Amino acid sequence: MENVQKTYTDFHERKHSKHVYPTEWVIRTILGKYPNLHLNTGSYKNSKILDLGFGDCRNMPLLNNCDFDIYGVDISDEIVTLGKKTLTELGISATLKRGVNANIPFDENYFDFLLACHSCYYVDKDTTFNDNLKEIFRVQKSGAFFIASLPAPNNFILKDCKRLDKGHVIITNDIYGLRNGYIFKTFEDEEEIIKTFSPYFKNITICKCEDNFWGVQINFFIVVANKI
Ligand SMILES: C[S@@+](CC[C@H](N)C(=O)[O-])C[C@H]1O[C@@H](n2cnc3c(N)ncnc32)[C@H](O)[C@@H]1O
Repeated sequence: MENVQKTYTDFHERKHSKHVYPTEWVIRTILGKYPNLHLNTGSYKNSKILDLGFGDCRNMPLLNNCDFDIYGVDISDEIVTLGKKTLTELGISATLKRGVNANIPFDENYFDFLLACHSCYYVDKDTTFNDNLKEIFRVQKSGAFFIASLPAPNNFILKDCKRLDKGHVIITNDIYGLRNGYIFKTFEDEEEIIKTFSPYFKNITICKCEDNFWGVQINFFIVVANKI
């Protein structure tokens, strides 16, 4: 196993807790009404959704309340086992599997929705962000919704990062000590997101969140788009 994968596995094993609450931007996006957001909240029931990089399953209670048919992928067997334990405790049923952004263990044209909450920009060794996008495209049905967050400039996680090719960076100064050594794909602005996504996705809408929680600057873009 790669060192970077071990760090996240250890983190989830240490952190397993009763506090499993959805992320605010996911609640706003899945349930909210905004002029530039074109999600159809009436279409969730029995739709297949993949929670890519599901972590501690925090978004699954919300997905379950919306009556989605839930699937999840994360990077190690240990994270999958912990996720199953959490979901059993919560009384939620979902199919969880081990996989990575560039290699998702599902058939093509499978999902109606794909949620990537702070996860699709993790780029594995010998792959690029474009490989992740191609793989997400592969497993989605035509017209399916892709809902994702992406790091925006001056996010705390990017401090002192080492710049690589085409917006890829190596994280070196994560104040939580968790992601050092990981490769992320970063985006300068909305224009770059549209250019990168448009070979695979249409109806690309983007918003930007800039929060500061007690000194931690969290800047990210949210993208909602449909597979071509
Ligand atoms: C910041 S956490 C987000 C977790 C969860 N989506 C949430 O909202 O709390 C990033 C997650 O991505 C997973 N991850 C790391 N590298 C990945 C990869 N190459 N492919 C898929 N998931 C990855 C990590 O194990 C971790 O669970």
